Amino acid sequence: MGTTAATTRSVSGQRAWRSPDHLQRLAQARARTDELFGIVRPEAMYDRPIRERHRIIFYIGHLEAFDWNLLGRHFGLPAFDAAYDELFAFGIDPVGGGLPADVAEDWPARVQVEAYCRRLRDALDDRLAASLGAAAGDGGETARLVEVAIEHRLMHAETLAYMLHQLAIDRKIPQQDAPLRAPAPAAPRMLQIPAGVATLGLRRSEDGPFGWDNEFEEHRVAVPEFQIDAYKVSNGDFLDFVSGGGYEQRALWKDADWNWVQSSGTSRPAFWIERDGQIFLRTMFDEIPLPMDWPVYVSQAEAAAYARWVGKELPSEAEWHRAAYGTAGEAERAFPWGDQAPDANRGNFDFLRWDPAPVTAFAAGASAFGAGGMLGNGWEWTRTIFAPFPGFEPFAFYPGYSANFFDGQHFVMKGASARTAACFLRRSFRNWFQPHYPFVYAGFRCVQPEADSDCSVK
Ligand SMILES: [Fe+2]
Repeated sequence: MGTTAATTRSVSGQRAWRSPDHLQRLAQARARTDELFGIVRPEAMYDRPIRERHRIIFYIGHLEAFDWNLLGRHFGLPAFDAAYDELFAFGIDPVGGGLPADVAEDWPARVQVEAYCRRLRDALDDRLAASLGAAAGDGGETARLVEVAIEHRLMHAETLAYMLHQLAIDRKIPQQDAPLRAPAPAAPRMLQIPAGVATLGLRRSEDGPFGWDNEFEEHRVAVPEFQIDAYKVSNGDFLDFVSGGGYEQRALWKDADWNWVQSSGTSRPAFWIERDGQIFLRTMFDEIPLPMDWPVYVSQAEAAAYARWVGKELPSEAEWHRAAYGTAGEAERAFPWGDQAPDANRGNFDFLRWDPAPVTAFAAGASAFGAGGMLGNGWEWTRTIFAPFPGFEPFAFYPGYSANFFDGQHFVMKGASARTAACFLRRSFRNWFQPHYPFVYAGFRCVQPEADSDCSVK
């Protein structure tokens, strides 16, 4: 897999720090985020596109401050600017109020922030380059921390795209999207998934691949037979729900979800715009007539209400795994299509496009059971509350990464979006969000249990 392929093994079998590989991947990740900030017009740098998030300028400082607070501390480097290290240390994700109240003038000038960033990058690069070979005996700690820095940055490359998606179009510098090949049309249908086992998580071992704390420990879950949609729910499908009054039918919504719909005045997906009775989709750089065959992006609450409306439900994390990676036999695949590394024919991921593709695109990415688009083209909501796997242990250097979100108010998402880096396509990777946050590149597909389908840990 992407993050681990370049990782080498030391003679002791531990994951070793190897400067050229790690530095190159860190440089590539930086290029991704630099490119992203490059689409923001200079006059928009202090805008706050999403009211629950910081202003854009914060994230420029944050990506470097995070690396510095992690790796600078690891190497024992002296602080250049302790106040900025703290100012840019943490993002925000308020649940139920507590919106930020800062004004643009509270933040330092861009030129100062960029000078801070340059200085940190240079100092870290010097230290990392000087560490070639020297850290091989540290039990893999340096390698692990560099993986954390790379993946943290790449996660932000995606979540910043969600944020900049909401920035007014005239505040961005338009980019060309990759052309779409028209996929063969396919009728919506459900696939029969026979009972079997889903292997969730990653086995903890000193020489194993990198994973975040919530990916451990590996365990097997027995999954009874069920049916699952062959493709993600499309904008066209969801338009039927909207037109059919789905947002006004109290019975389709859980209490908290109904309260959110009412209090927020939500009556359609956040990416949709209604103008003169016509629905448009807000893409990254444009507004276009609603593409009916693209996946709908909605919050978990909206996805769950739609599923109830069609007499189905969202998949559990284990069901999603089984449909994506399982086979008719005992074997499970590394990726839905098999064990080959991801490439641009397998799905809309790894920054291939800014926007979605039709739900039936990328036939070469289908799972053994024929489920299309499981990886890429939008994350997929599950009904599973984000919680630790058996054997969970927080990282000492980042104890709140997952544990802060084990609050029963976040749901697991699986899959990937067009802006998800290839390293996160590993089977064990878990994403999560609160159910009322509508700006994620996340859609869904539905399942239908055969009878009583409660999964049990083997
Ligand atoms: Fe962060």
